[in-house]
Amino acid sequence: TVADPNHRPAYHFTPPANWLNDPNGLVQWDGRYHLFYQYNPAGPFHDTIHWGHAVSDDLVSWTDEPIALFPDQEGPDETGVWSGCFVDDDGTPTVMYTGGAGKDQLPCLARADDDSLREWTKAPENPLVQSIPDDVGILQTADWDREFRDHCVWREDGTWYQIIGSGIDGEGGAALLFESEDLLEWEYRHPLLTGDWRATGPMWECPELLRFEDGAILHVSDYSKVAYFAGEYDESTHRFEPETEGLLDHGVFYAPQSFVDDDGRTLMFGWLKEDRDGASQWDAGWSGAMSLPRVVSLTEDGTLQYALPDELQTLRTDHHSFAGLSVSPGDSTTLSDVEGDALEVKLTVDAANTGEFGVVLRETPDGEERTVVRCNVRRRSVVVDRSQSSKSDAVNDGAQSMPITLDEDGTLSLHLYLDRSVLEVFANDAQALATRIYPTRADSTGVSVYATDTDVSFETLDIWHLDS
Ligand code: FRU
Repeated sequence: TVADPNHRPAYHFTPPANWLNDPNGLVQWDGRYHLFYQYNPAGPFHDTIHWGHAVSDDLVSWTDEPIALFPDQEGPDETGVWSGCFVDDDGTPTVMYTGGAGKDQLPCLARADDDSLREWTKAPENPLVQSIPDDVGILQTADWDREFRDHCVWREDGTWYQIIGSGIDGEGGAALLFESEDLLEWEYRHPLLTGDWRATGPMWECPELLRFEDGAILHVSDYSKVAYFAGEYDESTHRFEPETEGLLDHGVFYAPQSFVDDDGRTLMFGWLKEDRDGASQWDAGWSGAMSLPRVVSLTEDGTLQYALPDELQTLRTDHHSFAGLSVSPGDSTTLSDVEGDALEVKLTVDAANTGEFGVVLRETPDGEERTVVRCNVRRRSVVVDRSQSSKSDAVNDGAQSMPITLDEDGTLSLHLYLDRSVLEVFANDAQALATRIYPTRADSTGVSVYATDTDVSFETLDIWHLDS
């Protein structure tokens, strides 16, 4: 197994121990950021799920809070308190979540006892939304009487709406729209969107509708990737017309959730799955990390944009600039001052004159272990080559790749966050790829850059060591 304590991220949020999956109930309440998450306190594996809880004043330092929601042996959530969202019910902090009970997935509601959001009282009316018209044709599987879970709630003109993740038998994943006057009794409207099972699977988890000035984004998690559709949401018909589609991330980022903070930013967190085997997770004693918060926006032409919150800059310590550095075809340059396993790397190149180049991270002096972020500008792709990331065979060493677009002026910019076993890559603030790597050697801390087939000249190349 591969279970080195040095794989534990330094500045990404991880559970105090044991298992983490989806972010839940995200909110800035009373000025504080609250991160709830799918948590199994019994071990580093997915089993009886609770809601873990952490708070932060700045999105950078997090404090663990006691478990917020527990499964209830007698209740509609006896086998798990699954994913859900925060609802501001006229000042009463409220969450909607999915209860697991037998072969049922049951919508449930709970209200916080006070503004600390530490303790919650479940609604006596639980479970909610028990009947859905038969002709909807909800997907049934061997394990579940109906695939029907995860919640995204919003309000329009005093009326509540929510979408719940589901699937329509023979068709594909679906985000089913419901309406309510009181958050307790819900009436089915229609699918806000359905997919083709060949493209985005038979079941959609964690659907979320995000609304911006220039349009809306609906994203869904299809067991492997997070697909998004950008388009128009019509408030009079409650219909969503998708115009473009893509992937929110090309790596291990899954089941993301977002919220609008007091500064009006739409902040998104996603679960970064492990990419090492179960025995390694068991030996490590923890599993799963939260992505960095991403500020999401939509341009006028329907392109999704990511920015990293300014708060993250407070993590920066030593800074090294290599602006103007040039590498010849076939050459590589070791950036000897910047060794480390917690780094931020930001670079720009002029795409017009650039072929293939790469940034190598977590590299041993002899090159036995190394992770290569390879950028093929002509092919417009970024690949994270993990074939030598780890000597261990308990890890997934498959390459991960994403297509990239260039800025209008032909600049390619890359922004990398390395955090021990986590690597998040952003290209031109528009594409993202979060991945996991598990180097085994203590000296896997080197950084180098190389050029393959053309001179590569870095207009800017900044590297910061990042704090914990
Ligand atoms: C997504 C998911 C959700 C579910 C939760 C259970 O990762 O499967 O659909 O609510 O995790 O932990």
